[in-house]
Amino acid sequence: MLFVTGITGHTGKWLLDRLIKENYKGKIRCLVRKKSNTTMLDKSGLDIETIFGDLEDQEFLLQAIKGSETIIHISSILFSNNIIEAAIKNNVKWAILVHTTGRYSKYKSASEEYIKIEDGILKKRDQIGITVLRPTMIYGSSGDRNMFKLVDYLARHKFFPMFGSGENLMQPVHARDLGYAYYDVLNNKDKTFNREYNLSGKNPIKYIELVKCVSNTLNRNNKIVKVPLWLSIMAAKFYNQISKNAIISEEQVLRMQEDKVFSYEAAAKDIGYSPLSFEEGIKGEVEEYLNSKQKGVLM
Ligand SMILES: NC(=O)c1ccc[n+]([C@@H]2O[C@H](COP(=O)([O-])OP(=O)(O)OC[C@H]3O[C@@H](n4cnc5c(N)ncnc54)[C@H](OP(=O)(O)O)[C@@H]3O)[C@@H](O)[C@H]2O)c1
Repeated sequence: MLFVTGITGHTGKWLLDRLIKENYKGKIRCLVRKKSNTTMLDKSGLDIETIFGDLEDQEFLLQAIKGSETIIHISSILFSNNIIEAAIKNNVKWAILVHTTGRYSKYKSASEEYIKIEDGILKKRDQIGITVLRPTMIYGSSGDRNMFKLVDYLARHKFFPMFGSGENLMQPVHARDLGYAYYDVLNNKDKTFNREYNLSGKNPIKYIELVKCVSNTLNRNNKIVKVPLWLSIMAAKFYNQISKNAIISEEQVLRMQEDKVFSYEAAAKDIGYSPLSFEEGIKGEVEEYLNSKQKGVLM
């Protein structure tokens, strides 16, 4: 039996979509929360059992995982220790964990916890097979919580303040490429068992080009106003001194300057991973935004 966490999330939905398309025949048990929207699961036509609970509840997990052979854990790296502990106790053979390229950040506050969790787990490979997937920033729909905010901002404002030069490179990954990769990893166990894969978008893109691309796709003529880095840092410092609820810190400004480029070569080789470029991938997200605006869903 396959045990899945996070199937109701942004990328989990694409895994479900792929399982449906492939007419997956095996038994699947999905851990969902009481408040999770399970409509897609209920309509899937697959052999799915939903089990309600929370990943924070270790006692519950121990019971929930019973009888599973393989786990795809999408929910969050912060629950990976709970999952692995329950999996080992239940003699599960293989866990596919969705973690993050955040572990490569040179800023300790961003990477330290991820490294600690992941490296601790990887030491347990003598007890269970562990495959780690590390996505970059995920985008693709209103479910992404980051790119959609940029789309909304550019649609509603003429000017866009850019902290620093915008020359830093990014490589965001589309949610569908990621969700489909979960399936391909599962389906190619002979190659993917006990391996680690970075999963990024087709090409690196400069942050400034990314903003321009969203603006063009929206058919807007936004003006990018570059705020020099030193001034951005000073402003963030000052802002944090006067506001307890500051939404951006000095370190976040610095982290925004970091290149976030990660090769997906291993995934291309083992599972034929061939992701969308940002230019292609953003079209659907912008379309969703414009449609929802037209229907008055967004303010
Ligand atoms: N967003 C990014 O840019 C980014 C970058 C790198 C890595 N990642 C990681 O990539 C993975 C996939 O991301 P995603 O965008 O698909 O995530 P997502 O949309 O946030 O989905 C999270 C899923 O986990 C479930 N969940 C959350 N807390 C839970 C709990 N306490 N107990 C049980 N289920 C819980 C949610 O259920 P509900 O439906 O009930 O909310 C949802 O199904 C995540 O591990 C994320 O941390 C994300």
